[in-house]
Amino acid sequence: MNQTEEKLMHHEYDGIREYDNPTPGWWHLIFIASIIFSVFYAMYWHMSPLSSSIEEKWKQSQVAEYQRLFGELGTLHNDETTLKMLIGKADMMAVAEGTFQTTCASCHGKDGGGINGVNLTDDSYKNVKVATDIFNVVTDGANNGAMPSWKNQFSENERILLAAYIMTLRGKQPASPKQAEGNPIPAWGF
Ligand code: HEC
Repeated sequence: MNQTEEKLMHHEYDGIREYDNPTPGWWHLIFIASIIFSVFYAMYWHMSPLSSSIEEKWKQSQVAEYQRLFGELGTLHNDETTLKMLIGKADMMAVAEGTFQTTCASCHGKDGGGINGVNLTDDSYKNVKVATDIFNVVTDGANNGAMPSWKNQFSENERILLAAYIMTLRGKQPASPKQAEGNPIPAWGF
């Protein structure tokens, strides 16, 4: 028997014969090692407190980013200078818009035009006479809770930031505005 014959297997189908050509040892080793590794990796992924999903990592970095932004600003005060300063900060307004879309848009509409909550884009307000009143409405709510209080959901800084964002909605042209309610008030002081 020559070498080629030795390697040939004994069966034959339609005149076709097959080499006995096993995968090499190192290949088996990697294959088995990867199976063993996967067991430990699955345990680590699902059970270890040290592992975190991409979603969790994203949330953590988002929280860190908020803290960084707020940290830069320090403790905010509900006065016109602060509100004006916040309106001028595009990154802060983007944070506030995100909160408005997830928390307030269900009642006030995505563009602030109002659904069962009032229209926030027109010049008439029920509970607001000057810009700094907005923070009080957001903090304490209005009309026996028809407008909920957000004191427990959001920190003071966040409520001031929301108030600044609400100011920017005034004068926008919503897709289907709710009829104006309350009384017209003078333009914001700046
Ligand atoms: C459950 C529905 C609802 C949600 C959610 C809601 N609001 Fe309101 N909001 C109302 C209603 C209703 C009023 C009108 C209250 C009244 O009749 O005096 C109102 C009034 C207001 C006013 C005063 C407007 C005025 O004319 O006096 C502001 C400012 C306001 N909401 C901001 C917000 C912000 C910011 C959020 C999110 C954090 C929010 N609202 C979430 C229902 C809601």
